[in-house]
Amino acid sequence: MKQAFVDQTTSVAVKDTEVPVPNAGQVVIRVVVSGTNPKDWKVPAWFADKGPTNQGDDIAGYIEAVGDDVVGFKKGDKVAAFHEMRTPFGSYGEYAIAYAYTTFHIPEKTSFEEAATLPLAYMTAALGNYQALNLPLPWNPTSERLPLVVYGGATAVGAFAIKLAKISNIHPIIAVAGRGSAFVESLLDRSKGDTIVDYREGDEAVQAKIKAAAGGPVYHAFDAVSEKGSYQNLSAALSTPAKIAVVLPVVDYQPPSGVTITRVMVGTVHEPPAEGKTIGDREFGAAFFQLLGRGLAQGWFSGHPYEVRPGGLHGLQGALRDLKDGKASAVKYVVRIAETEGVSKA
Ligand SMILES: NC(=O)c1ccc[n+]([C@@H]2O[C@H](COP(=O)([O-])OP(=O)(O)OC[C@H]3O[C@@H](n4cnc5c(N)ncnc54)[C@H](OP(=O)(O)O)[C@@H]3O)[C@@H](O)[C@H]2O)c1
Repeated sequence: MKQAFVDQTTSVAVKDTEVPVPNAGQVVIRVVVSGTNPKDWKVPAWFADKGPTNQGDDIAGYIEAVGDDVVGFKKGDKVAAFHEMRTPFGSYGEYAIAYAYTTFHIPEKTSFEEAATLPLAYMTAALGNYQALNLPLPWNPTSERLPLVVYGGATAVGAFAIKLAKISNIHPIIAVAGRGSAFVESLLDRSKGDTIVDYREGDEAVQAKIKAAAGGPVYHAFDAVSEKGSYQNLSAALSTPAKIAVVLPVVDYQPPSGVTITRVMVGTVHEPPAEGKTIGDREFGAAFFQLLGRGLAQGWFSGHPYEVRPGGLHGLQGALRDLKDGKASAVKYVVRIAETEGVSKA
């Protein structure tokens, strides 16, 4: 089968390899569409010593084979899944591996393209809202006013954080966005006080406008950008005790007293519970992926806007370089595997 491997310079090579075999608890999925993520160009540069790797983590396709102990899936099921990051057989190939508990059925009406925008970014959003910020869970929406800043409302992660927050009845949502403001506007409910602050106006304006938009103290922020001054702006705008969830390492910065910054790492859904805990993010992940499948089927959740990059696996290099260059605005790049030269179109 064909697989694509990304190197530290974001060059992508397509090669013929063996087909994966599932271990216990895993499924093999015939990939129809793969999503892309910013980490797909970052990780090969951070771990250059590992050589080129298949970085794809967002899988949409059909179950091909199931490993021992897998229940609830059979060959031919239409699914999406989150591949375990930095392990072999990611979604940049004809067949990929995922654990069954990070795999979920997708309804007939959901396209593979839409489904491929979801797993990694949606789970990051869910972990940020509910594990890092401890916001009210979707099935227990708040009845109190609960302002939330989502820094990077047009990012895939931030947009999913907004969608989940709305289901938790969290308002007002203050979304920080720029080029993607029209898309972010479509997610917000102005009647509940939601609004947009434009980051292109500069740090001082962003800080002042977040405070003004909140109309009182705001204690929670999901920072889906986590660079370019975002957590500094949030620390200045929030009231204490403040909680900020970030998605990248905090670099050379000590938050002021009363501001707690928690780093979200989506890979925690593949880790066993911390010592002293019976269950942790792994079980949270299992529950929230199943919830996502139900949300798609029932119509109360949806994917991110996407752009199909032509050429299948050969389209990845351009897509990842555009992500690296900051060209993506309110869009997820996806590739259709059958468009890859040498892959059967059946
Ligand atoms: N820790 C984890 O587990 C984890 C998981 C997933 C992602 N991440 C990280 O999270 C970040 C977001 O990922 P993603 O896939 O959601 O990204 P993405 O959708 O590709 O992000 C693109 C968006 O970034 C927005 N943006 C750029 N600079 C901004 C700024 N200064 N303020 C506000 N928005 C800004 C742009 O907004 P406009 O269009 O409005 O200009 C653009 O729409 C990446 O750094 C990624 O590596 C971490």
